[in-house]
Amino acid sequence: MVERSLWHPVALAGEVAQAPVAVQVLEQPVVLWRDAEGAVRAFADQCPHRGARLSLGRVTAAGRLECPYHGWQFAASGQCTHVPALPAFVPPSGHCARAFEACEANGLLWVRLAPGDTPPPAFAAEDDARLRKLHCGPYDVAASAPRIIENFLDMSHFGFVHEGWLGSRDATAIDDYRVEPTPTGLRATGCKAWQPQSSLHATAPAQVEYTYEVTAPYAAVLTKVPETGTTAVDGWRESIALFICPMTPVHSRVWFRLAVADFESPDEKLQAFQHTIFTQDQPVLESQMPQRLPLDLRAELHTAADKASSAYRRFLRQRGITFGVC
Ligand code: FES
Ligand code: FE
Repeated sequence: MVERSLWHPVALAGEVAQAPVAVQVLEQPVVLWRDAEGAVRAFADQCPHRGARLSLGRVTAAGRLECPYHGWQFAASGQCTHVPALPAFVPPSGHCARAFEACEANGLLWVRLAPGDTPPPAFAAEDDARLRKLHCGPYDVAASAPRIIENFLDMSHFGFVHEGWLGSRDATAIDDYRVEPTPTGLRATGCKAWQPQSSLHATAPAQVEYTYEVTAPYAAVLTKVPETGTTAVDGWRESIALFICPMTPVHSRVWFRLAVADFESPDEKLQAFQHTIFTQDQPVLESQMPQRLPLDLRAELHTAADKASSAYRRFLRQRGITFGVC
């Protein structure tokens, strides 16, 4: 399964400190913990001795993960180093927990279950010092990751789902826009939307120009720039990355990474705006049937306004994605 060799976000970096944390990715239960050097480690959340959940254990002062059941201890590599019932026993190399690769990027922890050759999805705004970065989420959503990405790329729902915020029933037409494939997915440019309240700082309804980029099968970035003179902050622009952990084919954990030209507002205010928007999307996302995204373009109806989502479905098919699709 190609998805196993992709990096998936599993937690905010700050969430994993002293205690082990249980997460799930591609139906695999995983325990996250930090070793003596503070590096994040990811093991299958199942002790190789009698199958107890390692996430119910603790991290010892020496930086070993200790199982809650019989106290076996595991080093950062996964190697078992201590069996309390047999203190003199030196566990052989086969006595080990199943370790996965883990890393930190964009303020999140990432795990991959099998070796791969692509890095975690990029977020260009991350290195832009003129933009402040913060997170919103996580949200646990009863929808497949591809349905959530497709919703993020979709502008023709603005006037209905986000009426009075990102759209209006009086301005629902979608002008033509461009979609082109990229090595990581696709890019859609020249997307325009008329928005009554396009951001926290909008002072007037505005024409807003969007660029969308699919940066991995389950990750996307949008950049939006409102016409000048329609925001309280001069030169306002923002970039939003959507990072999704496919927990099961139809359950996902979602984070937004916001990059905004605003260093004044408290985090809570910026998060509240994004929260309002996403909680408008969530019930619709959870209502969509089938929950898995159909990759056969004949399975649902498409118009020219949907060409970004059609391109996304083609990309998933080409990429060999099978998790969360049908
Ligand atoms: Fe983990 Fe026995 S089940 S030590
Ligand atoms: Fe939406």
